[in-house]
Amino acid sequence: MTQLSPSILAADFAALGAQCAAALAAGADMLHFDVMDGHFVPNISFGVPVLESLHKTLPGAFYDVHLMISRPLDYVQPFAKAGAGCITFHLESESDAAATIAAIHAAGCKAGLSIKPGTPAQRVLPYLDELDLVLVMSVEPGFGGQKFQPGALDKLRMLRAECAARGLSPWLEVDGGVDETTAPGCARAGADLLVAGSAVFGRPDLAAAVAALKNL
Ligand code: DX5
Ligand code: ZN
Repeated sequence: MTQLSPSILAADFAALGAQCAAALAAGADMLHFDVMDGHFVPNISFGVPVLESLHKTLPGAFYDVHLMISRPLDYVQPFAKAGAGCITFHLESESDAAATIAAIHAAGCKAGLSIKPGTPAQRVLPYLDELDLVLVMSVEPGFGGQKFQPGALDKLRMLRAECAARGLSPWLEVDGGVDETTAPGCARAGADLLVAGSAVFGRPDLAAAVAALKNL
């Protein structure tokens, strides 16, 4: 059974609390919180104060924080303090990966590592034993509403096989262009955590959209 982490990037920010509550009530397992700094990616989204507010409004929710920022190590503490459950950062960022994973764990959060479409999945392997989550991007990070890149499927298959061989079970998460059409293939390839922005918050019937992605 796959889990669903709706990306609030596609939500109506003027009604963020209510939309997140509705997604969770409809069966979403957690909330995906996309942080963009206008430097690692060519877009700016939201940061620590927004997570603080959401966490105050919905303290029981699990926050799956995806940092698309150049220096994630510098921001581990503030996001952990603001209520992050898992902090995922990019292998292509400037921060040392091992040090960042250690800092995330020291801050009491689960640690995730993400790779862009152009980064080989093999590059995750040296860190695999330390990770609670691996995030395979199926679009270039930076914007919602892009088309799913099927190259992510081979990476998921390889990572699933490697985890099985090592007896590991981190979440394998896929993010970008995931909808009712692309989600089943992701699940078959080994993903057990699906991120969807447009296919949840971009739909007129949010509950139906969540249900469609939960019942693959
Ligand atoms: C893209 C973000 C994604 C994005 C997904 O950089 O990391 O989480 O919100 O949006 P959709 O599901 O619309 O592709
Ligand atoms: Zn994301």
